Amino acid sequence: MKTNKKVTPTVIVIFGGTGDLAKRKLIPAFYNLFIENWMPENFAIYGLGRTELSNDEYRDNLHEGLAEFSRSGAPEDKQWNTFKESLHYFTSNINDAQSYTDLLKEIEAYDNTWGVRANRLFYLSVSPRFIETATQNISGSGLACDKTKDRIIVEKPFGYDKASAVELNQMLTKTFDEEQIFRIDHYLGKETVQNILAFRFANTLFEPLWNRNYIDSVQITVAEEVGVEDRGGYYEGAGALRDMIQNHLLQILCMVAMEPPASFDAEEIRSRKYDALKAIRRIKPEEVHHYAVRGQYGEGWIKGEKAPGYRNENGVDKNSNTETYAAIKFYLDNWRWQNVPFYLRTGKRMQEKTSSITIQFKPVPHASFPATQVDSIKPNRLTINIQPQMDIRLRFMTKRTGLEMNLNPSEMIFDYDTGSNQTPEAYETLLLDAMVGDTTLFMRSDQIEEAWDVISTIQEAWKNRDSLDFPDYPAGSWGPETAEALIARNGHVWAVNKHSNDKK
Ligand code: BG6
Repeated sequence: MKTNKKVTPTVIVIFGGTGDLAKRKLIPAFYNLFIENWMPENFAIYGLGRTELSNDEYRDNLHEGLAEFSRSGAPEDKQWNTFKESLHYFTSNINDAQSYTDLLKEIEAYDNTWGVRANRLFYLSVSPRFIETATQNISGSGLACDKTKDRIIVEKPFGYDKASAVELNQMLTKTFDEEQIFRIDHYLGKETVQNILAFRFANTLFEPLWNRNYIDSVQITVAEEVGVEDRGGYYEGAGALRDMIQNHLLQILCMVAMEPPASFDAEEIRSRKYDALKAIRRIKPEEVHHYAVRGQYGEGWIKGEKAPGYRNENGVDKNSNTETYAAIKFYLDNWRWQNVPFYLRTGKRMQEKTSSITIQFKPVPHASFPATQVDSIKPNRLTINIQPQMDIRLRFMTKRTGLEMNLNPSEMIFDYDTGSNQTPEAYETLLLDAMVGDTTLFMRSDQIEEAWDVISTIQEAWKNRDSLDFPDYPAGSWGPETAEALIARNGHVWAVNKHSNDKK
């Protein structure tokens, strides 16, 4: 992990420059880096797309995006007018080699003006089927000819199963060295997720307890209120397992479960995370129903608004078998975590948007309190709220003030200043890291392949067997009841769950 984040002159090229990601996330992130003085004095951003657009039209469109999606709100005229001079639109066809050669000429002109060979950062925000062509053309045109200065960012989905991810990795490494490849998982850029490293490894207090001797179970929940929005076409081929579990939730699991790194070197941290993935016990095909639950939302109500069922969303098959909810029980076969269940779940159109990690500690070995008080002793619990609430809470028992020995759960809370817009967005952190060449928060090829391997039997089982009870949870609920049963078998309940409220 680098501490010096000084960026040298850089040209950024966004494939998919007119897409949603560029408008909602990438340009707002670059703009915020710019107004907070993280961008170098000399930089240029090229948005690539097939539509014919003038620079002005492109900039106006991105200006709207900033007003709507940037954490700093609508840009101030003075800052925007300076920033927009570095924004360019380049009409191009991803399949056409000539476009790349033309682009190279423009970029080289910057090198001449700035008197230095600028770094080049290629951002592939395109469907996976274009990655090969784009990479070959980037390579063939000579756009990425400097291994120390040129980098490529690849958006998810990175393949659709293990075999395709291996293929993609082989293809990318024909042109780029591993250190030049930045496979993005935006959850790793979230402030609260990065903080897990500080919490675990910058304190002496928690790490000695961070194992099977004291921890009873771990829960990771990423619940979304939104449905598939206008991404029905993509989501039909993905589902919750590939869209969220394979990447975001498994990466969070790694942060919780990894061994302490010997140093904060990118390779060291990534190796420890890889070890955690490697330790996850593979679920056998015949065990899938025992360890994994899927669900699909039907119509329902969210915060007083009617929401359609998944099968009625745009771009979705009327008989779709795609899961919009997944809950899985994993075990890690190593000394630290043997027999500690890790419950992962995610779903769309849930009652509330909330992402959190719950570390449930074991009960005290002996409760020496009066019988009337023993039942009120709640085991310690650490909750890391990732979003939208951002905090870390430790529940512990205390004596209620008074003349009798009455026990009471209390909480110690570390609260981020959630009301402020000062917390950098995940994409700001990650784009800055990519510009300085820090791969710590990006996924290495072996991590990606291992993560696909972890879910492969579930993927196969769900593909080959249609679910007969879809849709099985109403929009606005906490998912299917089978997910309660999944963890009830071990005597657990979901920590963030208001399932009972659904029935009121
Ligand atoms: C994306 C998924 O990677 O993450 C989306 O493709 C999901 O389906 C999104 O909605 C959630 O991200 P966040 O940052 O809003 O929690």
